[in-house]
Amino acid sequence: MARKKIALIGSGQIGGTLAHLAGLKELGDVVLFDIAEGIPQGKALDIAESAPVDGFDAAFKGANSYADIAGADVIIVTAGVPRKPGMSRDDLLGINLKVMESVGQGIRENAPDAFVICITNPLDAAVWALQKASGLPANKIVGMAGVLDSARFRHFLADEFKVSVKDVTAFVLGGHGDDMVPLTRYSTVAGVPLPDLVNIGWTTQERLDAIVERTRKGGGEIVNLLKTGSAFYAPAASAIAMAESYLKDQKRVLPAAAYLSGQYGENGLFVGVPVVIGENGVERIIEIALSADEKAAFDKSVQSVKGLIEASKTINPALA
Ligand code: APR
Repeated sequence: MARKKIALIGSGQIGGTLAHLAGLKELGDVVLFDIAEGIPQGKALDIAESAPVDGFDAAFKGANSYADIAGADVIIVTAGVPRKPGMSRDDLLGINLKVMESVGQGIRENAPDAFVICITNPLDAAVWALQKASGLPANKIVGMAGVLDSARFRHFLADEFKVSVKDVTAFVLGGHGDDMVPLTRYSTVAGVPLPDLVNIGWTTQERLDAIVERTRKGGGEIVNLLKTGSAFYAPAASAIAMAESYLKDQKRVLPAAAYLSGQYGENGLFVGVPVVIGENGVERIIEIALSADEKAAFDKSVQSVKGLIEASKTINPALA
């Protein structure tokens, strides 16, 4: 059986890490694409040269032509520019919207059957524009944000409780912005919801609120430390989990920016919700009942996403 093919559009910090992880996990052969000449080729060769040491079999190719992504099973998009200190994800809209147009065209013309995972920010608007430009069916394109946001939440919680990250689950809804909605009652340690852990004195409501706030601003915390760019290890690991679920038909339940057509009362936009990812892409969207407070927080987050989409239409009326 031929190996699966994974195409990475954008071979920067996240793209390179994606390629390395895909190799280490033997998910398939990898094509690194970028407009910068030499970078995808250099990273492909460097990672290929690590394979004998770590003992994995995969081919790596650097490319500057979209023809090389033909036949890809999975495409992960990180093309564009990252944040610098003082910038919000939304500040990237103008430039990354243009990038999504050219990437969408490249996918439409060369790999229209792929399952596409978008990481480029501002995530919820970028994946929306990428769907428009690529013409992909709604079940074959998602944005990666929720796995990352919940991983950050899980890390902070495990650190607070001094327990293994493996036993902490977290649930985050909404857009990938500072008003994302971490749902504490659906986040647990070994099945025990966070409010119960407050009740038995494992933490206080104040400390929990601070952890939620730190999660919301988790991306900015890394940008302020790195100064030259944004997070890349955890974003890459998160997208690889989504890609693996598709390639191996794992049917994992993961939060993702999925296209809503009536779920949660929304239509025609991508926003973070729990989905099942299997061989058919986004196979199901899980719609849970929200409390009044949670609904208000979700609606606020959706309003921000809608604002970005309106701004996108103003920048590029062809997207309207
Ligand atoms: N087509 C293909 N690649 C492009 C294009 C384009 N039109 N424009 C830029 N790129 C490439 C750049 O040459 C660069 O190699 O995208 C790559 C982006 O890499 P980095 O600058 O290292 O950014 P990274 O940290 O990987 O983040 C990429 O993901 O999380 C988001 O906010 C982040 O939008 C940013 C994206």
